[in-house]
Amino acid sequence: MILPGKVRIFSLFIFSHYAVKFCVGGDVITASEYIQDPGSIISSGGLYRLGFFSPNGSTNRYVGIWHDKIPAYNVFWVANREKPVADSSGVMTISDDGNLVIMNGKKEVLWSSNVSTSGANAKAQLLDSGNLILLKQSSNTSTNDTAMVWESFQNMSDTLMAKMKLSTNVRTNEKQVLTSWKSPSDPSIGSFSVSFEPLNIPEVFLWNGSTLYWRSGPWNGKVFIGIPQMASVYLDGFSIGDGEEGTVYLTYNFAEVSYLSYFFVKSNGVLLQPYWDLKFKYWRIDWSTPDSDCDVYGKCGPFGFCDTKKSPICSCLRGFQPKRVEEWSRGNWSSGCIQRSLLQCDRIKNGSTKVGKMDGFLKLENVKVPNYAIWSSSLEDKCREQCLSNCSCAAYAYDAGVGCMYWRGDLIDIRKFSYGGTTLFVRLPRSELEGKRDLRAIIAAAVVVATVIFSIGTFFAWKKSKKRRGKDGEQFSEASTENMLGKSLSKVYLQELVLYKLEELAAATSNFSDANKLGEGGFGAVYRGRLLNGKEIAVKRLSRASGQGLQEFINEMVVISKVQHRNLVRLLGCCAEQDEKLLIYEFMPNKGLDTFLFDPLKREQLDWRRRFNIIDGICRGLLYLHRDSRLRIIHRDLKTNFGTARIFGGKEDQADTLRVVGTYGYMAPEYAMEGRFSEKSDVFSFGVVLLEIVSGRQNTSFNEEDQSLSLLGLAWKYWEEDNVLALADPKISVGPFGVEITRCINVGLLCTQEFAQDRPTISTVISMINNEIVGLPSPNKPAFTERQTTTDTGSSRQSQKKYSANHVTLTSLEGR
Ligand SMILES: *[C@@H]1O[C@H](CO)[C@@H](O)[C@H](O)[C@H]1NC(C)=O
Ligand SMILES: *[C@@H]1O[C@H](CO)[C@@H](O)[C@H](O)[C@H]1NC(C)=O
Ligand SMILES: *[C@@H]1O[C@H](CO)[C@@H](O)[C@H](O)[C@H]1NC(C)=O
Ligand SMILES: *[C@@H]1O[C@H](CO)[C@@H](O)[C@H](O)[C@H]1NC(C)=O
Ligand SMILES: *[C@@H]1O[C@H](CO)[C@@H](O)[C@H](O)[C@H]1NC(C)=O
Ligand SMILES: *[C@@H]1O[C@H](CO)[C@@H](O)[C@H](O)[C@H]1NC(C)=O
Ligand SMILES: *[C@@H]1O[C@H](CO)[C@@H](O)[C@H](O)[C@H]1NC(C)=O
Ligand SMILES: *[C@@H]1O[C@H](CO)[C@@H](O)[C@H](O)[C@H]1NC(C)=O
Ligand SMILES: *[C@@H]1O[C@H](CO)[C@@H](O)[C@H](O)[C@H]1NC(C)=O
Repeated sequence: MILPGKVRIFSLFIFSHYAVKFCVGGDVITASEYIQDPGSIISSGGLYRLGFFSPNGSTNRYVGIWHDKIPAYNVFWVANREKPVADSSGVMTISDDGNLVIMNGKKEVLWSSNVSTSGANAKAQLLDSGNLILLKQSSNTSTNDTAMVWESFQNMSDTLMAKMKLSTNVRTNEKQVLTSWKSPSDPSIGSFSVSFEPLNIPEVFLWNGSTLYWRSGPWNGKVFIGIPQMASVYLDGFSIGDGEEGTVYLTYNFAEVSYLSYFFVKSNGVLLQPYWDLKFKYWRIDWSTPDSDCDVYGKCGPFGFCDTKKSPICSCLRGFQPKRVEEWSRGNWSSGCIQRSLLQCDRIKNGSTKVGKMDGFLKLENVKVPNYAIWSSSLEDKCREQCLSNCSCAAYAYDAGVGCMYWRGDLIDIRKFSYGGTTLFVRLPRSELEGKRDLRAIIAAAVVVATVIFSIGTFFAWKKSKKRRGKDGEQFSEASTENMLGKSLSKVYLQELVLYKLEELAAATSNFSDANKLGEGGFGAVYRGRLLNGKEIAVKRLSRASGQGLQEFINEMVVISKVQHRNLVRLLGCCAEQDEKLLIYEFMPNKGLDTFLFDPLKREQLDWRRRFNIIDGICRGLLYLHRDSRLRIIHRDLKTNFGTARIFGGKEDQADTLRVVGTYGYMAPEYAMEGRFSEKSDVFSFGVVLLEIVSGRQNTSFNEEDQSLSLLGLAWKYWEEDNVLALADPKISVGPFGVEITRCINVGLLCTQEFAQDRPTISTVISMINNEIVGLPSPNKPAFTERQTTTDTGSSRQSQKKYSANHVTLTSLEGR
């Protein structure tokens, strides 16, 4: 805003002879040296001017202060905001009682500094900081004592200039606030204000009337953590200090004196920071807020999450659902979200006997922390603990500058930043945390599939014994069921999966006879079968004792159906009837790798080239599971002899679980002991498998020369002795492959290191094996080097750590 009024302003010293007499330059106002419209004074350095002006679109006359040397962006300070002079008769002078006043032509006082302590010979002075001060002259003529009795910096308008103090009296709650103009043509007090809130953790609030409109986030000693731009742009500019009588203030100053910048709240509620570009000589806007809808306080309501990159921008935090679904779907998010399932504390409070698992935390990175943070003196490592142990704690965050913050009650005004911000941990029931990254998709899918299955079940029960098909099974596309299913749903979620009938499978497996049993996995037996059309299948009959509910079954099915990779066994279909849950896989006539690898005769068929291809194939299968498939999957049960691995849909990539599904001997220590699995625990299992393939020895049944060492221990021993090739299967003719074999063993040892973070990712493994990484790192000692004397890993959890039977024919490990 460049003031057109400016051109009408002249330095008009009516009583210039007094000026010569009493002051140096035109920067003061005294009783005799007053300014009359359109007069003005200029600060001694010439930077600021005080005088009469009219805002754009108004003829009213106001007294204000603005930049003089450079075009003014706005008027920093206005004296008579509420009472303009209607004509050009206005005068600013020192009144008889020593106050600075503005009077109209009728000598009516429109504005006064209104301090009682001024003496008669007071004077006002415009300083080079832009501050207009009122000085009380000592009446004792033998001294020159002056005292400042009033300053414009303490009676601010809409602009916070350098060295101004936005202050709050913590005892009386009196505040010095910025107040916006009513409109660009009306400087009277508008609805927006900016205040400094030092109680609790200091923060700056922008208000619309009495409604909070935007907040800066907590002060961390250097910046406000809810303004990511601050860290990079004007670090160190701000400081907080203690003033007199219980006031605390926020101020800023720029180290670079020539840097002209300030903060200004516009009449439309935008708080912005213009700065003068010295080079190109114009005002730039460095920063402004609200910049997006997510900046508006509480846009998404309690427990809502605002992300400008999403559409719609509001969503509920995980574990929460819209409080009022209809309003929410109409884009009125203010009512926010409510918790979907009870926290452990609530369950206890509610007298539930099923207290269940301890709550956990949802981690949200780069966010603006919610309002009403409570500060705690806890150190970083205790912050989480403290929150977890207090039922009223809904979330916590730790910032190195602030320390430990936690929240009770509603979490409001959480938004995502593209950078900066804070990591927030939101308390959730454990059940919510064990959900998937793609939780909603899975749930939606599962619900759909469940519906589908029940519908079909009912439908088939209806048509029971009507007819039997001699085909593979009932295609989902069967005409009579199509309408019921909804074309899109079955296509999207089940792809080519076939729904088999129980009686059909029973017939194919001779009523699940032991003779047809291929083996026993963690989740029930696997049977070989032959359909009426002659096609061979493998049927995994999930044991009821497995504890797998329909939901889990559906999840698994949905996930597996999406995983199609040539190195993985294909799921053909499923069956859910009469409490039975069955998965139907393609049959792998080559049987498991173990039947070759650990068979003294057959293993000779596996020369090094073959073994290497198998290793490479497993890697790529795993990479597909970890990275490429649409759902990230952790295999959790990778081994040489059991391929119908359970694939856990609906799990985090690092999560805690009480159910250990792996097979002893292949499980990473953190998984076997603590039930924590991650991609890195699959990498561990892969490492074991790799060493088994290279050595031709089984990690689980190790009774070779050195009884006290496991396969991993033996590998480590040879590694340390610099004799790794001794580990290689004597059936392999090492010949020219020595380097490659050594490299593989090195990788195997890297994969089986004790600490998950030391293990490479599967993609790195592929690069290592294929010689794309020169100079492999040296491994640390692997886990489980001592031979375990018991099959129990010490875990008392419900687990299926069985040695799987030797004859399982399904395998994911077969290079095909
Ligand atoms: C003054 O107001 C008019 C109309 O409201 C607008 O077009 C013009 O841009 C304004 N000038 C300045 C300098 O703000
Ligand atoms: C001056 O201050 C007194 C109390 O300090 C108050 O009652 C009065 O309204 C004020 N006058 C103006 C013009 O602000
Ligand atoms: C004026 O100031 C001088 C020096 O500080 C002091 O001695 C004298 O008493 C003062 N006079 C009055 C009237 O206060
Ligand atoms: C009072 O101020 C005048 C002008 O600034 C100066 O010449 C004089 O010495 C001062 N007197 C005292 C007592 O400081
Ligand atoms: C500025 O002064 C006026 C009159 O003295 C007073 O009414 C107003 O509240 C003051 N404003 C601030 C922000 O202190
Ligand atoms: C400010 O509040 C008023 C009254 O509640 C409302 O009409 C207006 O839309 C609000 N302004 C903004 C920018 O939110
Ligand atoms: C949004 O919902 C709230 C109640 O939750 C209601 O008070 C408000 O009027 C609604 N706003 C709009 C724009 O519909
Ligand atoms: C306690 O349990 C009852 C019945 O199961 C439920 O309606 C109520 O919402 C629960 N209380 C809380 C605080 O969730
Ligand atoms: C839990 O937090 C609340 C709120 O800060 C506090 O009043 C209460 O004393 C805490 N309880 C425990 C057991 O720490």
